[in-house]
Amino acid sequence: MSQAIQQKFVHQVIGHSSEQNRLATTKKLGKGKAPVNIALSKYWGKRDSVLNLPTNSSLSISLPGLGTETKIEVLNPQTTQEDQVYLNGQPLEASNAFANRVSRFLNFFRATPQTFFKVTTVNSVPTAAGLASSASGYAALVLALNDLFSWNLDNKALSLLARFGSGSASRSLFSGFAIWHQGQQADGLDSYAEAIETTWPEFCVGLLEIDVKQKPVSSTQGMQNTVETCALYQAWPKQANQDLQTLLKAIELKDFETLGKTAEHNALTMHATMIATWPPIVYWQPESVEAMHKIWHLREQGVQVYFTMDAGPNLKLLFLETEKPAIKQAFKAIKVLEPFKD
Ligand code: DP6
Repeated sequence: MSQAIQQKFVHQVIGHSSEQNRLATTKKLGKGKAPVNIALSKYWGKRDSVLNLPTNSSLSISLPGLGTETKIEVLNPQTTQEDQVYLNGQPLEASNAFANRVSRFLNFFRATPQTFFKVTTVNSVPTAAGLASSASGYAALVLALNDLFSWNLDNKALSLLARFGSGSASRSLFSGFAIWHQGQQADGLDSYAEAIETTWPEFCVGLLEIDVKQKPVSSTQGMQNTVETCALYQAWPKQANQDLQTLLKAIELKDFETLGKTAEHNALTMHATMIATWPPIVYWQPESVEAMHKIWHLREQGVQVYFTMDAGPNLKLLFLETEKPAIKQAFKAIKVLEPFKD
């Protein structure tokens, strides 16, 4: 049943031509490239896990130069009985969680049950360490499929398909700020992301890597447990949608203080729901908390710096160019990105 709903969704997005046309390849190889994105107002919780529809809208900033490059080709059915997935140069076992998830997604794009793919994906971010690699990963994979099958889909359709792979991927089709509309429809066709046209050249994001090991609980699992067991979660969708409105205004007015405060508070509220989940989900390491205190101390001294965090121990610092020397002085190992200049 759920597979029929999913298949219908995919068909609606990629168009109404016959199955044969949609999944016929004229090219040998499809390529796609997409940036990671960091949510300033987070997606946490699904209202529909079959179509991967969120409980709330979210807003992000993409980080050019960091992301995923993916190539996809159709394998010879005479010699192959399964997909081949390569991650950062390494072939993965079909049982590997990453390869398995990619293959389940590709099930919707096989011309026949005997069609298998070779997927070669290279991440310039550590996979599954809370640096949003699934976001750039599914956006790049959808772009590669669009290229392989010559669909010529528009950004809305690409975003819908990427969302179906991984929610945050809906926002990785764009550079700069993007908003993912939660949508209302049961068919999921109104839940996609769009670019926010404002540019903010002084805007900086600092990546503070605390630990880049695979996270213990995936975002998918973590948000499901939160929705099911956390009483505090009830308050989340309302705050998240309010924060999003505040952020939109702050971006329009280039009001950095409001943006920073709202993003930090939003991230900490999301983490509060994780902590109040059972079994508890605590992505933080002692060094994450230490870094938070350092940021609060810097703010007391007048440095305008805020942070956000995803499903992992790493911090992403938000500040304007004028604060770059102070930030680099305080955090020696930080990697500073300028989303509108890089
Ligand atoms: C904390 O997009 O990885 O990074 O849709 O289940 O694949 P799935 O989840 P995913 O969740 C991202 C959660 C987050 C917040 C965000 O990016 O908005």
